[in-house]
Amino acid sequence: MLYPLLKNLLFRLEPERAHSLTLSSLQRMEQCGLLSMIASGAKVAPVKLMGLQFPNRVGIAAGLDKNAVCIDALSALGAGHVEIGTVTPRPQAGNPAPRVFRLPQSQALINRMGFPNEGMEAIAPRVAARKHRAICGVNIGKNASTPLENATQDYLSCLRGMAPYADYITINVSSPNTLGLRSLQAVAQLRPMLVALLDERARLLPALGKSLPILVKIAPDLTTDELHGMADLLPEVGMDGVIATNTTLSRPAGLGSLADQAGGLSGRPVHALSLATVSTLRQRLGQSFPIIGVGGISSAADALAMRQAGADLVQIYTGLLYRGPGLIREVAAALT
Ligand SMILES: Cc1cc2nc3c(=O)[nH]c(=O)nc-3n(C[C@H](O)[C@H](O)[C@H](O)COP(=O)(O)O)c2cc1C
Repeated sequence: MLYPLLKNLLFRLEPERAHSLTLSSLQRMEQCGLLSMIASGAKVAPVKLMGLQFPNRVGIAAGLDKNAVCIDALSALGAGHVEIGTVTPRPQAGNPAPRVFRLPQSQALINRMGFPNEGMEAIAPRVAARKHRAICGVNIGKNASTPLENATQDYLSCLRGMAPYADYITINVSSPNTLGLRSLQAVAQLRPMLVALLDERARLLPALGKSLPILVKIAPDLTTDELHGMADLLPEVGMDGVIATNTTLSRPAGLGSLADQAGGLSGRPVHALSLATVSTLRQRLGQSFPIIGVGGISSAADALAMRQAGADLVQIYTGLLYRGPGLIREVAAALT
């Protein structure tokens, strides 16, 4: 109920400043027990997927909690899973600011952050120290300074570093803000990389004493042929699931003056693209391969549409800025 008021204040601040203020406030409120007192939580309706028990069908998409400082707070707000990151092997600053832009009329954002994060050694202990029941996924990527031909080494380092603490791992090959990253989605590039990662997981599993699903996160800008290639590849090599989608490089009409900012577009304008991507994947993959749908979900109706398109779980990010934390509860209830 209070969110429209809070949003007015937050939207007066520069977007990244508003974001870090929100994260630090959530963190403090959770640490002193205030968050669990005031947040009424979301409906618990457990779902078993990829061998994991998700408390509900709604999660927080990667990029919101890049450094894993708010897993417990987001869980207290009702998220059934929290995907942290993107985490890279070494810390990095990301692109120069300003690099996040609000498009309020379209309920959208454009960002070109470029994976600013504290690096896996700083982040891993925070994932290990989480207390709440939410499932925690770790989204991994490559450092900007790593040449594309050595990308697999960065993903392998992150897999090894985060495997003991993560519930699942997401291979991010779809951020538009790291030079050349999206080219790793081509089957010829992706196949050897995924095989290397799955081999490494097999080597790690006996010591881990748990299963560790590995998913790949894809862009909403792939052609139908590319999506079919992806859908044929993932089960064939033994991947556990797919997350669709990341932000789009396309610019639907009517976005206004900030539309020509470089970066990935998220929020309402990406929803139709994400839905179409999930639907194409589901038709090609059949009923049982796990799909997490993300992109422009800002209401219960959007989340239901994503379920109908074929997603088992959904994730949200931009919708939270425009609708507030109540969106988590609303979506969780709609998807029971
Ligand atoms: C500011 C911002 C930063 C993001 N950073 C990441 C990231 O580091 N890794 C990633 O896989 N996706 C990242 N994303 C993409 C989201 O996880 C999500 O896939 C996309 O925004 C579509 O969902 P939405 O419309 O609900 O925001 C980011 C999105 C935004 C808005």
